[in-house]
Amino acid sequence: MQSIEITRPDDWHVHLRDDPVLRDTVKDISRYFGRAIVMPNLATPVTNVEMASQYRRRILAHLADDSAFEPMMTLYLTDRTTTETVKQAGQSGLIRAFKFYPAGATTNADAGVQKMESIYPLFEEMTLQRIPLLIHGEVADPGVDVFDREAVFIDRHLDHLVKSFPELKIVFEHISTAGAVQFMQSSPANVAATIAVHHLLYNRNHLLADGMKSLYYCMPILKERADQQALIKAATSGSSKYFLGSDSAPHAQSAKEDCSGCAAGAYTAHAAIELYAEVFDEAGALDKLEGFASHFGASFYGLPRNSDTIQLEKRPWLVADRLSFGDQHLVPIRSGQEIRWSVTA
Ligand code: DOR
Ligand code: ZN
Repeated sequence: MQSIEITRPDDWHVHLRDDPVLRDTVKDISRYFGRAIVMPNLATPVTNVEMASQYRRRILAHLADDSAFEPMMTLYLTDRTTTETVKQAGQSGLIRAFKFYPAGATTNADAGVQKMESIYPLFEEMTLQRIPLLIHGEVADPGVDVFDREAVFIDRHLDHLVKSFPELKIVFEHISTAGAVQFMQSSPANVAATIAVHHLLYNRNHLLADGMKSLYYCMPILKERADQQALIKAATSGSSKYFLGSDSAPHAQSAKEDCSGCAAGAYTAHAAIELYAEVFDEAGALDKLEGFASHFGASFYGLPRNSDTIQLEKRPWLVADRLSFGDQHLVPIRSGQEIRWSVTA
């Protein structure tokens, strides 16, 4: 197949950061996505409705006048989040989800939750308010090998959480292992998972085998080829449990190439739907792209599908070496190389 028309897709997991880089990240995310779930892990985390409302306004200020793109706001859970905040979120009409980060698990997660079980009362309130819980599913325990953090999180926390809250919508974000796919296969209908395109395109050999490449350093860290293949199989299976969440996470080139500690995150918003199309095409499953990118996420969140379409063609284009990122630059995924699919209408 050389071209495909799909319902306009949505991105159910993206990092846009804040001014002065919103100009660049908002331009990229709003190219073809109708909506995006915007992560709340700003330098000062977005922890209440008022902060989210102000953040949303800062995002909207960078949208082109004719853009129909809709940023969907989330709140960041901390040890100090109250059930009152969850109630306010539920009544606000603005907050689409709460994001759980284990304290210290990733970028700007220091204010995250120390012990998941201690905020179970918040999950009860989220169930009542019908607000989904988005999970960064990794333990931050320094005694656990970085490649095992997702598997250990499933065993120590996720399994129990899912059994305890059969009515709560839970998204296991950016799954990165065959074990997570296996967990998802036997999970009930209130549990879904997003899959990031970098976890579909790459494995840890890309990160480590041919000169260590900071471009590919992200959390959860890239795993084995067998894990990558299990994720591709899940994403292209046609199962509505899996949907698109790019986890596009920009960092300035200087932060990615800092030898004292490389920032975790891969930037894909400049080309996300094209990269997913490449993966689905390679897997011989282009016919499954529309469900994954445009239908299943909306259904899970209880939202209508977008009403217009986009057209993709197998026509290569060259990604720039660097992209503008506020007053700095970033190096995007596929920097200086071709992407085989383009959006043509
Ligand atoms: O690699 C990552 N980068 N993983 C995350 O969970 C957070 C993200 C970021 O905000 O940079
Ligand atoms: Zn993320």
